[in-house]
Amino acid sequence: MTTPIAISFSETDLDALAGAEGKLAVIVTPDGKLDQSARRVNRLTKGALVRLAESDAWDKAKTGDCVSLGFPTGLAAEALLVVKLPRRVSVEEARRAGAELAKAKGKAALTVAAGAFHRAADMSFGLTMRAYEFTDHKTGDPSIGEGALFLVSKPEDVSAEAAPMTAVAEGVFFTRDLVSEPSNVLTTEEFAARLAAMADLGLEVEILDEAELETLGMRALLAVGQGSESPSKVVVMQWKGGGDEAPLALIGKGVVFDTGGISLKPAGGMEDMTMDMGGAGVVSGVMRALALRKAKANVVGVVGLVENMPDGRAQRPGDVVRSMKGDTIEVINTDAEGRLVLCDIMWYAQDRFQPTGMVDLATLTGAIIIGLGHENAGVFSNDDGFCNSFLKAAGAEGEGAWRMPLGDAYDKMLKSHVADMKNVGGRPAGSITAAQFLQRFVKDETPWIHLDIAGVASVKADTALAPKGATGWGVMALDRMIRDGYEAE
Ligand code: BES
Ligand code: MN
Ligand code: ZN
Repeated sequence: MTTPIAISFSETDLDALAGAEGKLAVIVTPDGKLDQSARRVNRLTKGALVRLAESDAWDKAKTGDCVSLGFPTGLAAEALLVVKLPRRVSVEEARRAGAELAKAKGKAALTVAAGAFHRAADMSFGLTMRAYEFTDHKTGDPSIGEGALFLVSKPEDVSAEAAPMTAVAEGVFFTRDLVSEPSNVLTTEEFAARLAAMADLGLEVEILDEAELETLGMRALLAVGQGSESPSKVVVMQWKGGGDEAPLALIGKGVVFDTGGISLKPAGGMEDMTMDMGGAGVVSGVMRALALRKAKANVVGVVGLVENMPDGRAQRPGDVVRSMKGDTIEVINTDAEGRLVLCDIMWYAQDRFQPTGMVDLATLTGAIIIGLGHENAGVFSNDDGFCNSFLKAAGAEGEGAWRMPLGDAYDKMLKSHVADMKNVGGRPAGSITAAQFLQRFVKDETPWIHLDIAGVASVKADTALAPKGATGWGVMALDRMIRDGYEAE
């Protein structure tokens, strides 16, 4: 597993700045004001910071950027990183500055002279999040690089503030690793084994095998996996950090590879379907974060792990399957498999846990990418209050989320002549009809949010807090929603 770089906090020692090895970072305000550490560094470098602050380069730099001065006179450091930040900044600005530091640092050791900067913990979180690289399958030097030392005026306070953030970062890294893994490595069995290992963190983990799923009646889920050599599995993870109240349920689509099945996908880009377990990846990452920070809430995560392969035993277009709920489904297109997996585990979670709310996450439709691109996940809900609490959390964490409509007219598009419903609604409103399909498996009394993360789970360009590839989108937002709404003492 990719572990975050080591970060430590200690008290500012002005006399140690000259000798700091690796790279040294100081903060300078946009109008050129230097704090104590920056003043000392300015003196040691014979005025380099004051000259920089008066330069065009400084003018051009944006808030949160850092300007690198190579091999500065008077310092042992190989580079001096000058961070442009006002005295007071938003969480997002502080994180971005940290992420810029991660880029500028490379693999070198970094000392950040943050002094009395009020968002040093957020800055360290941004640094941690951006310093991610999935190197498990690279030979050579796969190390993530040297750690970072933050020099601050109140190290205990900052370090206490940063501790739960580190738990979230570890959750995000867990998700990113799962999403990055190729499908010959992350089989359904390997995925389940990695979740079982989280029992060490205090999570209760159960793995349901095909025979148990058969007994439960999860024929829709099982039909998706029946063409694969990897056995289908459902993994239930419970974190019991609250009282005896019913849990919040998180449900994840875990298609470890989606070929489309007999409705085979075209070859171009099919390799991207290694990330089709992204929903299950996010659920797993959130559960890990909750356990690591010992959240005072009851949360259950349920993921459906299957592989969608064409085979002599694979399901065919036109097949009719019976869901655990009892409703029958005509499988028009075997590539609309995510909803077949989700409908059974959503029903199971409600049946077994009577959750106070249910959030499902899935790389469900290509159509959501057409609608929202890679900036926002699609959000669908039957409950305005619940939905707004999620949207607020996502906004606070800088994770794009945009609400989409539901409605009877869309639901009608799922009408089938031979079964209770068909699994596709045609080309128009593809993401909405997928959500309508799922809603048929939501009990009236269950507040529910469906997150279509097909566009945001893995991206082809760097984002604010992640290099290109798996983002871990949603771990921060869900952790925040739980912290704000389920842990109030
Ligand atoms: N896993 C795909 C959706 C997807 C597409 C995720 C692109 C990430 C990137 C899903 O199982 C799928 O194939 N959906 C079909 C549904 C269609 C057959 C109704 C789609 O979007 O084309
Ligand atoms: Mn598919
Ligand atoms: Zn899929």
